[in-house]
Amino acid sequence: MPATPSAPTRELPELLVLLEPDALREGLLHDARVGLTAASRTLPPKYFYDDAGSELFEDITRLPEYYQTRAERALLAAHADDIAAASGAEALVELGSGSSEKTGLLLGALAAAGTLADYVAVDVSPGALHGALELLARERPAVRVTGVVADFERHLRQLPAPGRRLVAFLGGTLGNLDPAQRARFLTDLAGGLTSGESVLLGVDLVKDPARLVAAYDDAAGVTAAFNRNVLRVLDRQLGADFDPDDFDHVAVWDAEAEWIEMRLRARRDLRVRVPDLDLDLAFAEGEEMRTEISAKFRREGICAELVAAGLEPAGWWTDGDFALVLALRP
Ligand code: SAH
Ligand code: TRP
Repeated sequence: MPATPSAPTRELPELLVLLEPDALREGLLHDARVGLTAASRTLPPKYFYDDAGSELFEDITRLPEYYQTRAERALLAAHADDIAAASGAEALVELGSGSSEKTGLLLGALAAAGTLADYVAVDVSPGALHGALELLARERPAVRVTGVVADFERHLRQLPAPGRRLVAFLGGTLGNLDPAQRARFLTDLAGGLTSGESVLLGVDLVKDPARLVAAYDDAAGVTAAFNRNVLRVLDRQLGADFDPDDFDHVAVWDAEAEWIEMRLRARRDLRVRVPDLDLDLAFAEGEEMRTEISAKFRREGICAELVAAGLEPAGWWTDGDFALVLALRP
């Protein structure tokens, strides 16, 4: 970028693009075709997060029913020093960083431990990265801040490794992968780390289903708006003519799988045209399309998954609702 004489002395964070807009679009075309033509329709969750979706998610994090963000922030505030000491990290890499709002707690602890030089924020949403990084670059001038537009299911091996890393994956986002995707993701993640590097997961725990359902079906309807927003993404990106008002938001607890399932349910018989896929879709009244799962964890289960992926559990902090898990690459 050419220097301008009037530019402020502080440099803006760099943005590395591993997921080009064309590739994102190719992925959407493929995922939408597969998901919308399946016998039980589904849409993958990463398309929720356009600029409007990222803002709606921030609203979700402040809802009275959505305890997760507050719980995770309190756990980080209480234990970031222990996490920093156990990781010895020179670089914090955060996957699905979003607004990076809780990240300052980790950066502060790592900076106080004296080892930290880099923060690498990784997200599919360039809009979320821009806002977060400008703020962090201002608040943390001693840390080199880099944003990476990437898909954490595809680009883990290409992420920057400026020093010994702690890879944070917060917000319960791990639970948005299904068990097979999760195993692949964790194995891939572990395989890309060198000995002594570590992973910090924020995971939501199994609890009273009524509280879980409320967290995904809030009284103010913010989660419903977030869920329906994915239809606006399809309208804008694929020329589709979904009317979000034709769909009800549904959140159900699957007691066997131990996950919350988010769905959109057709309010009436309707047809939807998706020009960019040359598809005409018929929805029957009451028909449901799955848009998201959010798996809830137990300590034994998540630790077994980490071990299966080649990681060694090294720390567990919880308030009973939510947990932070630290694991090391041996
Ligand atoms: N970590 C933040 C945000 C969680 S929301 C918090 O704890 O509040 C999930 C974030 O992951 C969003 O910012 C979304 O854009 C990003 N995301 C979802 N799927 C992704 C993928 N496949 N690759 C990279 N980022 C993804
Ligand atoms: N990672 C968050 C979670 O599973 C994402 C999320 C919160 C979400 N509320 C949502 C995703 C509603 C879809 C719909 O809790």
